[in-house]
Amino acid sequence: MNRMMWICTLPGFCWVDATLPAQDPESVPPRSSEPREVEALIDRAEQVLTSKLADISGILSDPNYLSAHPWPRFREIIKQHARGSRVTMVTPQKAGERMRVRIRFVEADGSASAGALVYLYHTNARGDYGPNDANVPPVGSDNNYARLFCYAVTDPAGVIEIQTIRPGGYPQSNTPEHIHLRITTRGGKSYGAEIWFDDGPRVDRKAREEAARNRIVICPVAVDAHGHRFIDAMIRLD
Ligand SMILES: [Fe+2]
Repeated sequence: MNRMMWICTLPGFCWVDATLPAQDPESVPPRSSEPREVEALIDRAEQVLTSKLADISGILSDPNYLSAHPWPRFREIIKQHARGSRVTMVTPQKAGERMRVRIRFVEADGSASAGALVYLYHTNARGDYGPNDANVPPVGSDNNYARLFCYAVTDPAGVIEIQTIRPGGYPQSNTPEHIHLRITTRGGKSYGAEIWFDDGPRVDRKAREEAARNRIVICPVAVDAHGHRFIDAMIRLD
């Protein structure tokens, strides 16, 4: 089993091991082949990225591309064009509380895990992965089709920094709000992990015990000098 250690660097928080728990709803792909308008949209995104008229932040934060987000070809294009460690993955209009997610990845020998590819995804503020997309069923559409997603490449210090919103918890569920991560190192090793929030309304004693058993990190949410919420964590890959 791939393992990693998470260390939240904010005061008053301890670290735990982390692995990828299997707790998402069933993954359901889009129902059919790309509709013509989606196909054109994805083609346009690829053209814009290839010609460097925008980076993936420019595409992911552009509301014109939202209907393309669940489609596999769009996601693959975003992945192929992921270059930077700083990514904005939501549109300015996206409902929810803005949040900056900073994570530093460290190899087992203590060196920075530079050049690692990180896939990050989570629900919207209502706790859904994509309920309003006509091409994605309201139940499911999670890890491979979540509308709110991004790819980032760790910088020489092993850091990524993502601008997003705070996810909501699944409707009619006790599962805490969470962010999913999958990390592929430059050496080709792959790790999965999950972040919960220390002030989450569902993070009670029972949830904390579950997190400890499943090596899920529970991370404090802080507020910076500009009043913006952020989390700051370190992940040790071993
Ligand atoms: Fe999830």
